[in-house]
Amino acid sequence: MKPISVGWAKLPGTVIMTARRRAFLPTRFHGDIRPRGQRAGTPCRIIRRCGTLAREDGRKRPDGALPTLRARIRFAVGAFLLLGLIALAVPAGAQQLNPDGSPNPTASSVKEDQLLRDMRIISGRGSIPDVKSYNIEQPAGRDWRQFHEFWLPWLGAAAILGMLALLVLFYLIRGMVRIEAGRSGRTLVRFSGFERLVHWMTAASFVALALSGLNITFGKRLLEPLIGPEAFATWSQWAKLAHNYLSFPFTLGVIVILLMWVAWNIPDKMDVEWIKAGGGVVGHEHPPAGRFNAGQKMIYWIVVIGGGTVAASGYLLMFPFYATASAGMQKAQMVHGIAAVLFVSVMIAHAYIGTIGMQGAFEAMWEGTVDLNWAKQHHSAWVDQEIAGGRTTPPPRGRMAPAE
Ligand code: HEM
Repeated sequence: MKPISVGWAKLPGTVIMTARRRAFLPTRFHGDIRPRGQRAGTPCRIIRRCGTLAREDGRKRPDGALPTLRARIRFAVGAFLLLGLIALAVPAGAQQLNPDGSPNPTASSVKEDQLLRDMRIISGRGSIPDVKSYNIEQPAGRDWRQFHEFWLPWLGAAAILGMLALLVLFYLIRGMVRIEAGRSGRTLVRFSGFERLVHWMTAASFVALALSGLNITFGKRLLEPLIGPEAFATWSQWAKLAHNYLSFPFTLGVIVILLMWVAWNIPDKMDVEWIKAGGGVVGHEHPPAGRFNAGQKMIYWIVVIGGGTVAASGYLLMFPFYATASAGMQKAQMVHGIAAVLFVSVMIAHAYIGTIGMQGAFEAMWEGTVDLNWAKQHHSAWVDQEIAGGRTTPPPRGRMAPAE
C-alpha cells in the first residue's frame, strides 16, 4: 500500500496506488505495469513527462498515443516559469560581488547560517588521517565561544571582585582579629618543615596558575591595551608555558595535602558548635576547635575537591583528544574556567585570614610555630592535646608563664 514516489519506484507485480497518485495515472496502469518479460519485484522507473507516462526503458505509453494539446500547453507554461526563475536568480548572484567587482565572502553567510542550523555541523574533506579536523563549523562551538567570551569573564569578575569587596568591608567592620590575651612568649610547633614546604609549593604554583590562567580569560581585554600587542604576546607565551608546567607541582601538592592532613579534616560535632558561634571571627566568642577548625576544614576540602577538578579538567585540555572529542573538551574548559575562578575567589579569602585578617596566623605557616595564647584562642582542644603531650616550648627567661 506504499504511495509511489515521483521518479524512482520499486514496483511489485501489482501496484495499488494511493488515491492521489491514481488521479494522474491512466486507468489502464492500475494493473501490472512490469515491462514484458520482467519478473515481479524488478525495479522499474516511471518518468512523468508533462502528462505522458514513459518508462525508463524508453517504451512509450502502451497505447502509443501522442502528447495531447493540454500537455503541450503545460510544457510551454512550465518552461516559461523556469526561465523566469533563472532571470530572478541572476541579480541575486550579482549581489555576491562587492561594488568594485571583487567577491564578497560574507554575502553567502546567511545561507551558511541556515546550513549550520539544518545540518548541526559543517564538515569538509581532508587528506590527513585526523578526521576531526574536517569539521569546519558546529553550533556548539558558538555556544562555547559565548561562554568563553561573555559568561566566564562576567562570572570571574563577579566572584573575584565580589570577594575582594566583601573582605574590604569585613576588614573595615571587624578589623584584624587580635590575640586577645596578648603574646605569651611560649610557642607551639604547628606545622613541620615538610608540611610548610608542601603548602608553599602548592600555593606558589597556584598563584602562578591563577595569574597565567586569568590571563587567558581577561588578558586581551585588560592587559593588552596597557602593554601593547607584542609585549602581551610574549608574556602570554611564557604564561602559557608556566600554566602547563606548574600544573605538575600543583597537582602533586594537592595529592600530598589530601594524604597529609585528611586525618584532621574529618567533620565532627565540635565543628557544628564552631559554626554556630561564628568561629570567633564574626563575633568575639572563641568556640573550641581541634588542630583545624570548621573554617579551615572547609578550605581543606575546597582545595582537595577544587584542586582535583581543575587538575582533571586541565589535563583533558592539555592533552587534547586523548580522552575526549571536541564536545568533551568544550565541557572540560567550561568546568575548568568556572572551578578556577571560584577557587581563586575562595583562596583570596584564605590568604586574607592568614595575613592581615588575623594576628599571629602567618607565622604558623612561615616559621612553623604559633604563640600559645593564639593557639588557645583559636584551637583550644588542640592546645590541650599538645600540652598533655609536652609539646610546648618553655617560657622565655625572665618571664612568668601564664597560668594554664
Ligand atoms: C593541574 C592543574 C592545572 C592544569 C593541568 C591546567 C591546565 C589548563 C589548560 C590546558 C588551560 C587551557 C589553556 C588554553 O586554552 O590554552 C587552562 C586554562 C585556565 N586555567 Fe588552568 N590548569 C590547572 C590549574 C589551574 C588553577 C589552579 C587555576 C586557578 C586557580 C587555573 C586557572 C585557569 C584559567 C582561569 C584558565 C582559562 C580558562 C578560560 O578562559 O577558558 N588553572 N588550564
